[in-house]
Amino acid sequence: MSTSMTLTVNGVKKTVELDDPRVTLLDLLRERLHLTGTKKGCDRGQCGACTVIVDGRRVNSCLALAISHDGADVLTIEGVAQGDRLHPVQEAFIAHDGLQCGFCTPGQIMSAIGLIQEGQTGDDPERVREGMSGNLCRCSAYKGITEAVLEAQKVLGAASRGEAA
Ligand code: FES
Ligand code: FES
Repeated sequence: MSTSMTLTVNGVKKTVELDDPRVTLLDLLRERLHLTGTKKGCDRGQCGACTVIVDGRRVNSCLALAISHDGADVLTIEGVAQGDRLHPVQEAFIAHDGLQCGFCTPGQIMSAIGLIQEGQTGDDPERVREGMSGNLCRCSAYKGITEAVLEAQKVLGAASRGEAA
C-alpha cells in the first residue's frame, strides 16, 4: 500500500507516493526527486555528508524517515544559491579552500548554514569546530572549513545589520 506525502523542497511543493514507509529522506531526495547534491557517505549518521535543513534545523537525512517529515520545509544544497549568485557560505568555502575532493562539501555547507542560523558560536574557532564536528572530511580540509564558517558568519551578520558586505 502506498502513502502520499508532501514536502516543500527548496521552496517548491512536491507530492511523492511512497510505497515503502522505511524510505529515508536522503533516498527520497536523491532517488525520487533527483536532488543528488546531498551525498550518501556512511548511511548511518556518522559522517554528516547527508546534512540538509528541515524546518530550520540541521538533520542527517540518512537517519530521517521521509514519512515522518510529511509537510516539512526542506532546504538542500541545490536551493542555497540565488540563481548565479552563490550563497555567502559557498563563497567563503571557495575563498578559504574549505574543500578538496568536494564529497563532504554539500553537507558541510548545509551544516554551516544551520550553525550560523543557530547563532551559538560567536567568533570562537573552537566552538565552530565543535558545532561542525558532526561533519567529517576525509581530505582533512578542516582549517579552511572553520575559516570559511567564521568569514560567512561575519558577512551574513553584516548583511543582516544592513551594512555593506
Ligand atoms: S550519510 Fe548520513 S551521516 Fe553519513
Ligand atoms: S573535501 Fe574531500 S571529504 Fe571533505
